[in-house]
Amino acid sequence: MAPQDEPDKKLIEKRKHDHIEICASEDVGQSYMYWDDVKFLHNPLPEVDFEEIDTSTTIFGRKLKAPIVISAITGGYGKAEEINRNLASVAEEFGLGMGVGSQRAALENPEVARTYSVIKEFEIPLRIGNLGVPQLIHQGKKPPLDVGDGRRAMEMVDAHILAVHMNYLQEIVQPEGDTKSKGGLKALEKFASALPVLAKETGAGIPKETALKLKKAKVKGLDVGGLGGTSFAAVEYYRAKSAGDSTRVNIGRTFWDWGIPTPVAVVVANVGLPIIATGGLRTGLDVARALSIGASCGGMAGRFLPAALEGREALVAEVSTILDELRAAMFLVGAKDISELASAKAIMTGRSKEWLDQLTE
Ligand SMILES: Cc1cc2nc3c(=O)[nH]c(=O)nc-3n(C[C@H](O)[C@H](O)[C@H](O)COP(=O)(O)O)c2cc1C
Repeated sequence: MAPQDEPDKKLIEKRKHDHIEICASEDVGQSYMYWDDVKFLHNPLPEVDFEEIDTSTTIFGRKLKAPIVISAITGGYGKAEEINRNLASVAEEFGLGMGVGSQRAALENPEVARTYSVIKEFEIPLRIGNLGVPQLIHQGKKPPLDVGDGRRAMEMVDAHILAVHMNYLQEIVQPEGDTKSKGGLKALEKFASALPVLAKETGAGIPKETALKLKKAKVKGLDVGGLGGTSFAAVEYYRAKSAGDSTRVNIGRTFWDWGIPTPVAVVVANVGLPIIATGGLRTGLDVARALSIGASCGGMAGRFLPAALEGREALVAEVSTILDELRAAMFLVGAKDISELASAKAIMTGRSKEWLDQLTE
C-alpha cells in the first residue's frame, strides 16, 4: 500500500467502528413504526397444526430454512471478525441468508479480508457479498472498482450473489461522502451483466421507477432497504456531533426521516424480481407482514447488532424468538407454509396506506 493511502485506511476503519458503536448505543431509528401499518386478518379456525408449519423457502436458487436474511452490517476493522463470526454461526444453525458489510476496505487493504472471509467457515445457505454504487463511479480520488473487483469481493466470502448498495443519503450527510452519482446505473448494469447482482438500498427505499430501471439492468433481485429502521442520516448525525461539525449535525437531523417506508417500497418496487424487505423489521411478525405484501424474505440488521456484540448465545435467543413469532403469525392466519403466508390477507393502514394511495392512484 502506498504511504498516502494510510490516512484513508485509518479513516475507513474508524468510520466502521463508529457505525457499530453508534448503532449499538444510540437511537438511530424512527418514532413511527411503519410495519405496524400492515395488519393480518385473523383466522379463528386455522386448520393447521403449529408443529407442521414449514418456514422454508427458496430465493436466488438457494434454500433457506426461514425467509430471513441477516443484512449487511460490517467488516473491515478489528471487532468485525468476531461480529461476523457470531452472525455466521447462527445463519448456519438456523439456515438463514447472510450479507457482509461493504468489502471495499478489504479490496483496498487485504489485511482486513479475514474480517469478512470468516463467514466461509460456516455452511450458510445464502452468502451475500457487498460493494457500493458510489465506489463503482469515478469520485475523483481513486479509480472506480471494476467487475474484476466485484468478482474478488464475491470470492472473498464465497458469495452466491453480490449486493451493490445505493447509499446516497448516507454519502450526502457524511463529511467525507462520495457524492458523484452520474453513471451509477450504467456501472450497475455492467456489473449485472457479468455477476449476479442484488441491488440494495440502505434505509431510504426503492421506488417503482428505479425498480424498473434495475430490472432492465438485469439485476437478480432487490433489497428495498426502506425507511423505518436504522437511519444512516441519524448515524452520521451522531458522528458529526462528536466531530463538532454543526453543518452535518443539522443535515443529519433534517434528513433523519428521509425515504420511502419499507412496506410501501415492498409494494411499489414489486416488478417481478425477488424482493428482500429490509428496514425496520423488529419481530417475526414483521417478517410475516413483509411476505404477505410481496417480499420473498425479510432482512434485519439493527435488531441483530446488540446480540451479535454480546455473543453467539444472545444471538441464538434472538433468532429463536423471531422464528417463533413468525410461526405464530403463520399459525394465526392458517398458513402451513410460505406460499400460503404469501397469499394471506393483509390490510394496509396508517401512513403507509396514505403513501400507497398517492403512489398507486
Ligand atoms: C452498523 C451498520 C452497518 C451497515 N453497513 C452496511 C454496509 O456496509 N452495506 C450495506 O449494504 N448496508 C449496510 N447497513 C445497512 C443494513 O444492511 C440495512 O439495510 C439497514 O440497517 C436497515 O435495516 P434495519 O432497520 O434492520 O437496521 C448497515 C447497517 C448497520 C446497522
